[in-house]
Formats: sequence, structure tokens, C-alpha cells
Amino acid sequence: MIDIHSHILPTVDDGAIDIETALEMAKQAVADGITAVVATPHHGNGRFDNEAPDIHRLTDDLNEHLRISQIPLTVLPGQEIHTYRNWLDDLSTNKLTAINGSRYMLVECSNALTLDQRFEVEMEEIIHELSVAGFVPIIAHPERYGVFAKDISKLKFCVERGALAQLTAHSVTGLFGEKIQSASLKMLREGLVHFVASDAHDTEYRMLQLSGAYEWVERKFDSEYSLMLKKNALRAVNNEEIETRLEKTQKRKWYFF
Ligand SMILES: [Fe+2]
Repeated sequence: MIDIHSHILPTVDDGAIDIETALEMAKQAVADGITAVVATPHHGNGRFDNEAPDIHRLTDDLNEHLRISQIPLTVLPGQEIHTYRNWLDDLSTNKLTAINGSRYMLVECSNALTLDQRFEVEMEEIIHELSVAGFVPIIAHPERYGVFAKDISKLKFCVERGALAQLTAHSVTGLFGEKIQSASLKMLREGLVHFVASDAHDTEYRMLQLSGAYEWVERKFDSEYSLMLKKNALRAVNNEEIETRLEKTQKRKWYFF
């Protein structure tokens, strides 16, 4: 299994507090059956700025620690980019980086954007501008934003315009409460989800685990769905085409009516 969203790089954001914690998170990942993890430190969220060259350097450092400690896990570079003011201007600089150098960029929506009445206009612009620059946004944990959780059509709007969506594993399994779990379920049911990722921050509460969430998807839906989500993580790091359930879900609805 591959995890496309984690805060395993030590001391750069609110994730791993030191190298020991990062190595412990890596051990938990390996125990869960994970072989590669994308390190996606926060960038531009008003608290943390982590620019691409630093992320690449720190990823190399962590891989060296993992090798010395004989922990069979590979860390790949990435970034969780907050939609800060004029952030699209930074596309032409070397501050931003997508998942493992692919076209898939992990994007965290700012609260200002999700509360904005011009939400659709802004999101359409973001998706369009990224696509012109050769990138595809992956919306990080939509189930944890009121705007998407309350009104799933907002997420559908983004997905139909080319965005992808990533649920957090612990949202799916219910660790973040019933409301978030039921929002996750709705999004999965509508075929709006392309990835499940850990968004791991530590070794106790937000751990680097995925298997429980995939098992849950398999129980609630089918093994084909969980396999699609698993494979999509590999496809993202390899910069390959991502599979979706959206069409299938829509066809099914058509059939039922
Ligand atoms: Fe995150």
C-alpha cells in the first residue's frame, strides 16, 4: 500500500515532532503493510511554509535514517498546499511541488475559500489554472470541511471539473466522529472519492495506517472499490491516469430510475 498524504517529515510542521517520532511512524506504517509514504508538509497555511527544495532535501535525509535503521519504507516528496492568497502565482516558481513530481497536487482549501460565496467561481478558476500549468488538484479531506460535508454537490462540482478527492483513513473508520464518517460514506457512495490517505501526524491519535479504512470500504461497498482506491495511490506517485467511480455511480442511478 502507498500513502499519498502524511506529515512524517520531522520538525517542519505539526506532524512528527522529532526524528524518533518519524521513525516510529514509519514502523507503524510498515506494520500496516505500507511500503511507500508521500511526505506532504503543510505549505502556505499561515503557520507553516515548506518550499519544494527543503522538502526534497529533508525527504532524502529521512530516507537515509530509514535505511540506517533498516525500516523498509520509502518516503517520497510532496506538499499539502493551502490555497493562500495568490498561490497560483507560485506555480511558476520552485516553491510548490506535486506528489512525487507527478501532475497530482495535494491541495488544502482555506477556510476563507470554503466560506466564500464565490466558492464555485474560485474553485473553477483554481482547477482551470492548475490544468493550464499541467497539474491536477487532489482536494485533501473534503469530508472534514463543513462546505463539502453539508452540501455534497459542491464536491461533485469540483470533481466534474477535473479535481480529485482524498478521504482521510481515520474519517472513514470513524475516529473523527459519526458526522465525518457519514460524510465520507456519502462521498464514497456518490463515487466522488479517488484516494484514501492517512494524513498521519503522530504515533498515537493520527497514525500512519490505511488497512482499516480499505477494509471498511470493502465491507460497505465491495473489494473492487477498495482496490481502485489502493491502485490510485500507486498511479498518482507514478503519474498515471486515475480511475474513478463517478461514471459508474451515475450509470447505476440511471438504471435504477
Ligand atoms: Fe495533512
